[in-house]
Amino acid sequence: MNILVTGTRSGVGKALAEHLVEQGHQVVGCSRRPSTVDHPGYRHHEVDLTDAKALRAMFREVRREFGHLDALVNNAGTSSMNHFMMTPEKTVRDIFDINFFAVLNSCREAAKLLQKSPGPSSAILNVSTVAVPWALDGQLAYSASKSAVEQLTRVMSKELAGFGIRVNGIGLPPVRTVLTRTLPAGMVESLVDRQAIKRMCTMADLFGPVDFLISEQSGFVTGETLFLGGVH
Ligand SMILES: NC(=O)c1ccc[n+]([C@@H]2O[C@H](COP(=O)([O-])OP(=O)(O)OC[C@H]3O[C@@H](n4cnc5c(N)ncnc54)[C@H](OP(=O)(O)O)[C@@H]3O)[C@@H](O)[C@H]2O)c1
Repeated sequence: MNILVTGTRSGVGKALAEHLVEQGHQVVGCSRRPSTVDHPGYRHHEVDLTDAKALRAMFREVRREFGHLDALVNNAGTSSMNHFMMTPEKTVRDIFDINFFAVLNSCREAAKLLQKSPGPSSAILNVSTVAVPWALDGQLAYSASKSAVEQLTRVMSKELAGFGIRVNGIGLPPVRTVLTRTLPAGMVESLVDRQAIKRMCTMADLFGPVDFLISEQSGFVTGETLFLGGVH
């Protein structure tokens, strides 16, 4: 499959890109800074996804090189922890720019290439977080932006079904990355303790659910966000 994963320089995106190329897929990744994934099946684009023009140029390049996409994984994102009273509007807008608007724009551009997939269906997978169902205090901007992504997943699943494109999400509990390194001491442990499965989510825990949601194994699944770790 031809798979585009956003935010592949570090963390979840890098682990997914490395996993997917090892499975034999052709993976296109992107981030603002240079690639850290070194594999013949991997192409990297240095792009700021909040720049809509640069984002469109990347998709044009993907179309020229590959002709079509079979899956898009919207992983790039950022978070910020603060009481909403102490969060400047600019910070909130910046979070929405990458966590929501870049996802919306990527879906719009990718849909043109996903509908050309030769398979019975193609897939969009959006990364969300337990901060949404748990409505975590101190994470208003982050969780609101990801709530918007979960709603996008539901609505878009209907609007793209006629084009053979399924749209799902994966909801992550804490995973050790740069993003969680900035959380206050003890917070990760207390979140893990709220999960039904009381251990830290590893990158390996993501691979099965991601493989399922982007492949034909989930050919009759759309509009769902699958949460890991037992968070409900
Ligand atoms: N880690 C967790 O515990 C956790 C839990 C729940 C959900 N999530 C979600 O999982 C996803 C990945 O998080 P992570 O923990 O792996 O974070 P991370 O290590 O900070 O990785 C984020 C990636 O996105 C890229 N990126 C950020 N802003 C970008 C932009 N404007 N344009 C292009 N690329 C950009 C970064 O590369 P550059 O800096 O080079 O641009 C990096 O490769 C996010 O959507 C996050 O909300 C994570």
